[in-house]
Amino acid sequence: MNVLILGGTAEARALAAVLAEDPRLHVVSSLAGRVTNPRLPVGEVREGGFGGAGGLADWLLAHRIDAVIDATHPFAARMTASAAEAVRLARPGPGVPLLILRRPGWTEGPGDDWRRTASLAAAAELLPALGRRVFLTTGRRSLPVFAPLDGLWFLARSVDPPEPPFPANLEVLLSRGPFTPDGELALLRGHRIDVVVTKDSGGAMTTAKLVAARELGLPVVMVERPPAPPRVPSVRTVAEAVAWLGAHAG
Ligand SMILES: NC(=O)c1ccc[n+]([C@@H]2O[C@H](COP(=O)([O-])OP(=O)(O)OC[C@H]3O[C@@H](n4cnc5c(N)ncnc54)[C@H](OP(=O)(O)O)[C@@H]3O)[C@@H](O)[C@H]2O)c1
Repeated sequence: MNVLILGGTAEARALAAVLAEDPRLHVVSSLAGRVTNPRLPVGEVREGGFGGAGGLADWLLAHRIDAVIDATHPFAARMTASAAEAVRLARPGPGVPLLILRRPGWTEGPGDDWRRTASLAAAAELLPALGRRVFLTTGRRSLPVFAPLDGLWFLARSVDPPEPPFPANLEVLLSRGPFTPDGELALLRGHRIDVVVTKDSGGAMTTAKLVAARELGLPVVMVERPPAPPRVPSVRTVAEAVAWLGAHAG
């Protein structure tokens, strides 16, 4: 059975590691190829976009793919939509079996002060009322949305350097998780941060900033996830994805 994992996440790497043990499977992991020096999954890896849904459908046919697991980041909405379309294009009728593996989002607890927004633009609108010094963890490609806010100061953390346009008052911190609560506390205190902005990515690797914000009583602007495509089955854990694949392997 030929399996394609759409990756770029810790879950995708964990899944690739489990599936590599199964001799009945030939697994290819796909990365967008955006990050320099990405963390690579075990097994076969391809990099770069497919050229939209049509390109992915052609790729699925050319590589005789029997099942696709979309384990991309919850905010990789274009890739997820493209996969949903491509599996139908590649096999009219039921489509090539497709599963979304998506970790659950974060849940607000006692002591948290979260403001949920539907978009990055809505998050930017909220900021002036919440503070002057902002910790942005929404990714380097989100910075243009915050560029007009020249009355605010930003600390933006990203894996690779951002490209303009970005806010006038900006310090960039190049760093990749996982992060620790103590490290995040020191960072927020050291930069006298008033408010934290994050996407609701979920997962353990970047949750420490939420713990630190709670500890300091800081508001967190939480950008909600884009909706998943309709009628695509979805699971939350690697174990569930393995079970789904087992059912499709027959
Ligand atoms: N968005 C985030 O916050 C975030 C955070 C951590 C990791 N990531 C990872 O980074 C990658 C890019 O994320 P994004 O938000 O830029 O995605 P996106 O906006 O949904 O995708 C943009 C385009 O990049 C290509 N692409 C995305 N993921 C791919 C993959 N796994 N394999 C091959 N091509 C891929 C596709 O190009 P074509 O249309 O040409 O096929 C897609 O249309 C994803 O793999 C995602 O898992 C994203």
